[in-house]
Formats: sequence, structure tokens, C-alpha cells
Amino acid sequence: MNVLVIGGTGTTGSLLANLLPDARVGTRKPVLDDHVRFDWDDPSTFDAALDGVDRVYLIPPVGVADPAPVVESFLARARLVRRVVLLSSSAVGESATGMGALPALVRALPEWAVLRPSWFMQNFTGDHPVAAGVRDGEIVTGTGDGKVGFIDAADIAAVAARALTDPLPHNTDHLITGPEALSYADAAAIITEVTGRPVRHRSVSTAEMAARLAAGLPREFAEVLAQLDEDIRHGAENRVTTTVLDVTGKPARTFRDFVRTSIG
Ligand SMILES: NC(=O)c1ccc[n+]([C@@H]2O[C@H](COP(=O)([O-])OP(=O)(O)OC[C@H]3O[C@@H](n4cnc5c(N)ncnc54)[C@H](OP(=O)(O)O)[C@@H]3O)[C@@H](O)[C@H]2O)c1
Repeated sequence: MNVLVIGGTGTTGSLLANLLPDARVGTRKPVLDDHVRFDWDDPSTFDAALDGVDRVYLIPPVGVADPAPVVESFLARARLVRRVVLLSSSAVGESATGMGALPALVRALPEWAVLRPSWFMQNFTGDHPVAAGVRDGEIVTGTGDGKVGFIDAADIAAVAARALTDPLPHNTDHLITGPEALSYADAAAIITEVTGRPVRHRSVSTAEMAARLAAGLPREFAEVLAQLDEDIRHGAENRVTTTVLDVTGKPARTFRDFVRTSIG
């Protein structure tokens, strides 16, 4: 089994690569022995990255309005690849423009899985706007009291590892959440309690959220993200699944446990 992990230096991909030590890590800047140059913006990198590969963890190009054509041309060149595990999102429906077209491409393969995780716990750390809010003491979203089944990226990676390596292909969509649905106010309260640093949540209108996000992102992308906050406000992410337990045999990590180890 030869696995290519696209986005293998990223949030879920790096954790997946740790679970699959023989995997090849796709990155635009290869520095380690197991790295191979892979760039969605440079299709001349596809063939060498795919050489000898029969399974792929596929993170589509990020921030591209219509990623289907380039993903389709990549899959057309992946002649030896039997199994693809696609990282999609619980927030992306089949009818959504852009990423919504990708699951159908993957389902055409003999062996596949589509991962549909909810929002990552890791958004509360690193350079995500929510993480900046944690540092500033005020998380600003357009989500109101809407709840989200926040999921640890390590749990997503564990599901991906099983979907890539289980003898029987999963050939299904996996809706992946953490063990509880929390509002951002709930999450802020947990961070305050665990770290002792006061953090609160302030909800703003969708228009204000789009304007805030547009300070650091293209306007169109900022509007899409603000709309996803509105969807959360209307309950779109208020659900939990047992996928992590069902697929890996281990329960999904709680947000409180994540905060204990990842937010100082
Ligand atoms: N954050 C969430 O809450 C959430 C929820 C559900 C789904 N998702 C999905 O997760 C994915 C992104 O996750 P993330 O924000 O945590 O990002 P990430 O996985 O950290 O993504 C960055 C990775 O993408 C690679 N990359 C960037 N541009 C590339 C290009 N042109 N060609 C090849 N590789 C490229 C980077 O590799 P190099 O820099 O090494 O090249 C890096 O490994 C998205 O598909 C998103 O829909 C996110």
C-alpha cells in the first residue's frame, strides 16, 4: 500500500502522516525524505507525486472558487489509485458550488470515503480568527447561540487512517463531530474555566462578520464564511455523531480535554 497524503504538512494531514509512517507527504516545499513536491497550482507536479501511489488522502485546493476541474484532471492522471479519501466538510452540501462537486468525482472510484467533519477544535489555536479572539479575550462570530459539534483534527486523522487502510473500502460519507455540540459562548466558558483567563463570545450580524473577515480575506470568500456562521446560527451544525467511535473504536475527544492540552 502506497499512500500520498496531500496537505500532509497541514492540520489533519500532518496528524495522518504520523499515523501512516510509510506515507508520502505532498507539500509545495519538500524538505524531508518522505516529502514529495505537490502543488495544485502546478499540475506538472502531479505525475511524480503519484508515481507508485495506490491510495490518496485528498485535501482539495483551499480558497479556490471552483476546485472541480483541477481535482478531476488530477484524478484522471491517478491511474493506479484505487482508493481516495476526500476531506470535505459538514458545512458543504452536495448542491453547494465549488467544493460541493468533489464528492461525486471521488465516488466514481472503486474505493472511496468522503470525510465531512464539523468545525475543527484547532480553530481555537494557531492563526485562525477564532484563535485571535481567544487571545484577545473576545471571540467574535456570526453564530448567535447556534451550536457546533467541534471535532479534534486528530480524530479526523484517525478516521482517515482507517478509511485509507481498512481491507474493506468504506465507500461512504462519514459525518464526523466531537462528542458534544457547543455554542461559541459554551466554548468560551470552558476556556475561561480551564485556563483561568476570561474569554467571552460576541455575536454580530452576518454582514458585520463578512466585513470583519474581509479585512484579511478576499471579499467573496469572507462572505461565504460569514454565511456559514449564519447557517450555524440557524442550527445547521447542532448535531453529534458516533462516527469516531464507530470507525476507530475510540471515543472522540471532548473540547474540555482539547483546551487542557492545547490552550495555555
Ligand atoms: N477548519 C475547519 O474548521 C474545517 C472544518 C471542516 C473542513 N475543513 C477543511 O479542511 C481543509 C483545510 O484545513 P486547514 O485550514 O486546517 O488547512 P491545512 O490542512 O492546514 O491546509 C494547509 C495544507 O494545504 C497545503 N497546501 C496549501 N496550498 C496548496 C497547494 N496550492 N497545493 C498543494 N498543497 C497546498 C499546505 O501544504 P504546504 O504549505 O506544505 O504546501 C498544507 O499542508 C479545507 O479543505 C476545509 O474545507 C476545515
